[in-house]
Amino acid sequence: MTVDVAAKIAELKKERDAIILAHNYQIGEVQDLADFVGDSLELSRKAAAVKESVIVFCGVHFMAETAAILGPDKTVLLPDKNAGCPMANMITAEQLRELKAEHPEALAVCYVNSTADVKAECDYCCTSGNALKLVDKLPKDREVIFVPDRHLGSFVAEQLGRELILWPGYCATHVRITEEDIAEARKQYPGAPVIVHPECPKNLRDAADYSLSTGQMVAFAKESDCNEFLLGTEIGMLHRLKMDFPDKEFYPVTDKAVCPNMKKITAEKVLWSLESMETVIKVDEDIAVRALKALENMVAVL
Ligand code: 13P
Ligand code: SF4
Repeated sequence: MTVDVAAKIAELKKERDAIILAHNYQIGEVQDLADFVGDSLELSRKAAAVKESVIVFCGVHFMAETAAILGPDKTVLLPDKNAGCPMANMITAEQLRELKAEHPEALAVCYVNSTADVKAECDYCCTSGNALKLVDKLPKDREVIFVPDRHLGSFVAEQLGRELILWPGYCATHVRITEEDIAEARKQYPGAPVIVHPECPKNLRDAADYSLSTGQMVAFAKESDCNEFLLGTEIGMLHRLKMDFPDKEFYPVTDKAVCPNMKKITAEKVLWSLESMETVIKVDEDIAVRALKALENMVAVL
């Protein structure tokens, strides 16, 4: 990023009364220019609490949509409107309604990686950071539908010893990591704990030492006595961890885990977004009101 771009962003941020939020998977230069970098839950909470009137959301579409629902009086900008999440598009509201009709007594929980239309059909929303706590609070005598990520869903089911009705969605980035990648990385860095994201399939979670959300990875690296860590998640996480813990070493188990959508946002696009006030992410009011209920349940669970 040139000094010029950074200076213009700083100037426009003041002029527009804007704050820049970035997900842990954003490219390094975008994380570095952001006012706050975090996981999906931290970003949702931050978006709901900021005093600025404009939020430039450096992440993917469902995250900006969530911010718009949680802060209806804010203008939420996504610097690249094509930055979507393929997993979020793996279930439609219509498909969820059909699933609910097959299980009329079930509670419906969606992962935050879902569209606003899907959230509007749900009782609860969660992130990977609070999925276990949220599902654990649900009455044991009720069936629970969990969409769209079957891997996060199976992680929750196995950790809680509770059967969930799952949907076959998945993250196209996390499924690229293999058991062989983990075995090779362990050979290269013996003794370093392997941490994967719960969006990884079960065989990977079993091959790893820990399954943690990106925010939990930061907390783990802080608390741990280890100096080297192996990460099975999107590679943007390495930048976040290296910035926070410059005395520790973080290695990817593979460099294949790149989310092309998270990589669409650049410093120049952030500048363009502030200049043009595009692209504004809006949610229809009737959908937003219904989705807010599920999202309020999400941000309330620590
Ligand atoms: P978290 O940052 O909440 O762990 O989410 C990971 C992810 O895949 C976001 O799209
Ligand atoms: Fe979606 Fe996976 Fe990219 Fe996250 S990393 S935005 S879940 S495709």
